[in-house]
Amino acid sequence: MKFFVRTYGCQMNVADSNEMGRHLKDRGLALTENPDEASIMLVNTCTVRHHAEERAFSEIGRLKKWKAQVPGRKIVLTGCAAERTKQHIEDRFPYIDLVVGAKSIVEFPSMVEELINRRATDDELDYAVPASGDTISSFVTIMRGCNYSCTYCIVPSVRGREIYQPIDTILGEVRDRVREGVREITLLGQTVNSYHDSSRNGGNRGRDTDFSDLLEAVAAVDGIQRIRFMSPHPYYMTSRVIESMARVQQVCESLHLPVQSGSTSMLKKMARNYSRDEYIRLIERLRTAMPEMTISTDIIVGFPGETEADFQQTLSLIEEAQFDWGFIFKYSQRDGTPAADLPCFPTELIEERHQECLAVSDRIALRKRSNLAGSLQEILVEDDSFGRNRGNYKVHITGNVRPGETVMARITDAERPTLEGSVE
Ligand code: SAH
Ligand code: SF4
Ligand code: F3S
Repeated sequence: MKFFVRTYGCQMNVADSNEMGRHLKDRGLALTENPDEASIMLVNTCTVRHHAEERAFSEIGRLKKWKAQVPGRKIVLTGCAAERTKQHIEDRFPYIDLVVGAKSIVEFPSMVEELINRRATDDELDYAVPASGDTISSFVTIMRGCNYSCTYCIVPSVRGREIYQPIDTILGEVRDRVREGVREITLLGQTVNSYHDSSRNGGNRGRDTDFSDLLEAVAAVDGIQRIRFMSPHPYYMTSRVIESMARVQQVCESLHLPVQSGSTSMLKKMARNYSRDEYIRLIERLRTAMPEMTISTDIIVGFPGETEADFQQTLSLIEEAQFDWGFIFKYSQRDGTPAADLPCFPTELIEERHQECLAVSDRIALRKRSNLAGSLQEILVEDDSFGRNRGNYKVHITGNVRPGETVMARITDAERPTLEGSVE
C-alpha cells in the first residue's frame, strides 16, 4: 500500500506531515510522489488565511473523483483547517474517511490504525521512499500551540495552548535524525524561543532549561552541522539567546523574525507585545553580535484601522531594518479571532498596499543578495543541484555535488531569489 501527502501551511505542518509519514512507513506503507499509485491520501491543511483554507478545500473537492477511481482508496484530512471546521467537513465532504485536527496530531497513530488494513503482511510491504526534502535538513517540533493571542491570528484556537517537548525527547529525536543522515536541524514552534522545560531544573542550579540551553544541547549532538529555528518571537529574543546564537558555531547566521507592522500603534492593536523601537533595537543587537546575519520577516498589510501614516511606518521600517527578504500578507479576517469584529478595508486598498509593500521589500531584497555576487559561500547540498548557505539563501549549484556534502561555491548570479553558484 502506498500513501501520498499534500501539505499546506507552515513548517509546523510540514513537520507534522513528516511525522505522520514516518508512522505510516513504520506500519509498512510506502510514500509515493504519484497520487495515481496511492491508496491513502493525506491532506494536511492550513487555515491561517481564508485563501489558504480555500486552496485545501478545493483540493479535497477534486479528490472525490480520485477516490471513486479505485475501490478502497481512503482520504485522511488533518491539520488546522480540519481542526477549525471539523463539524462542517462531514457535511461538505462526506467521502472523507478520517479527520484528525491539529490538536489531535499526537493521536494520529491510533486513529489511522483502524483505517489501515491490519492484514498487510511482510511481502506486501513496499520499500519506503524517504520523504523528499527531509533527508539532509529536517524539522524537529519542540513545542506545539501558542500562548499569544495576536488579534488577527487563528493559530492559538486551532493549535491550542503551548505544550513543550521535554529536552530529552528533543535530543533523542535529533540523534535519530542525525543517525539517518540529517546534517541540519530546524527547531520549530510558534514562538519557538519561549521554550522551557522544568524537568531538568536540578541540573541547571534550580532554573528551568530555556531555549538558549536547548541550542547548546542540540549543538552538542555528534554529527550536527547546522542549527536553525523558527519562528522566534521578538519578545523572547533575550540577551541569553543572542549570546548562545553567537557562541554556538552550528547555529546559522539567519533569523526569520516576524514584525507584522512598523507602527507601534498597530502593533498594540495586534497585541504583539513590542514596539517599533524595541524591534529596531533588537535588530541592531543581533547584527552587532552576528554581523553576517540575514534577517527575514512577515508583514501584514491592511489590518483594521491601519492609517496611511501607519502603513508608511511599515515601509520605512523595511528600509531601516534592511530585511534580506520578507513575506507580505494581505490581512485576512478569521472568524473567532479578537479582530474579527473590526471593520475591514475594501480589498482594493489592501491590494494597493500589498503591491507597494512588496515593491519596497523586493527592492531591498535584491540589493542585499546582489552583495553576495562573486563571494564564496559554504553550501550544504540538500539534493542533486540545490543547497543553502548559512544565511539560508537557496543556491542552485553547477558542478559535481552529492546530497549531504558541504562545498564552497562561488556565487555567479544573484539576480533571482535562488542564487546561482559554481563549486570551487
Ligand atoms: N507564530 C508565528 C506566525 C505564524 S502564522 C509568529 O508569531 O511569528 C505566519 C504568518 O502569517 C504570521 O507571521 C502573519 O504574518 C501571517 N498571518 C497570520 N494571521 C494572519 C491573518 N489573519 N491575515 C494575514 N496574515 C496573517
Ligand atoms: Fe499567531 Fe501571534 Fe501565536 Fe504567532 S505568536 S501563532 S502570530 S498568535
Ligand atoms: Fe501553520 Fe497554517 Fe496551522 S500557518 S499552524 S498550518 S493555520
